Amino acid sequence: MSNNEFQSILDGIWQRLAKAAKDPADPWRLPTLAAQGLNGPSARTMVMRSADSSERLLTAQTDIRSTKISGFRKDPRVAWLFFDPAKQEQVRATGRAIIHHDDDITRRAWPSVPEANQYNYATGHAPGASIDDPAQGQATSGDLAKAYDNFAVIRCEITAIDWLQLGTTAHRRAQFSWNGTDWLATWAVP
Ligand SMILES: Cc1cc2nc3c(=O)[nH]c(=O)nc-3n(C[C@H](O)[C@H](O)[C@H](O)COP(=O)(O)O)c2cc1C
Repeated sequence: MSNNEFQSILDGIWQRLAKAAKDPADPWRLPTLAAQGLNGPSARTMVMRSADSSERLLTAQTDIRSTKISGFRKDPRVAWLFFDPAKQEQVRATGRAIIHHDDDITRRAWPSVPEANQYNYATGHAPGASIDDPAQGQATSGDLAKAYDNFAVIRCEITAIDWLQLGTTAHRRAQFSWNGTDWLATWAVP
């Protein structure tokens, strides 16, 4: 990418994403992750766990039994939506999801999941299963090794970014696409 302004916008996006992953106050830590579900479009709020510009990776964590996993397996194309209401800034990042389950990636990530959150993976029923009582959807004790068996990391390799900044006098939109070696950039009508 030769244009300095495009480079600075793209660097700013990745830096903010990396910072947001560690900052619970940053709205970009809670993006929407959308994909083609088994029965049409499906979107959900997820905690974005990490952003790595050098590998173009965004990651999230989930239960391997959840419905979204079957959707990603059927069609791994995903769209992340980040919005900052205070700055009126939107980023849409698209790419492909790779599911990690009981491998080096999940083994490294699991210890950093707080114990209280690890129990979320220990529910007897799979996420989305119908239950008679909401209490059946909670696990507050149990075998954490079994919980780990349900733990999955979703790594998404990003190949396109659409950035939109609403301003009081003018709006600006830029689109970035990865050509296999470099990011290509263009301005777009907001
Ligand atoms: C603030 C917030 C954060 C969430 N973070 C996650 C998350 O990191 N991982 C996850 O699997 N679900 C998370 N969820 C729940 C999902 O939005 C969704 O309801 C759940 O994963 C089931 O989705 P599915 O039926 O598409 O598989 C979060 C929900 C909210 C409201």
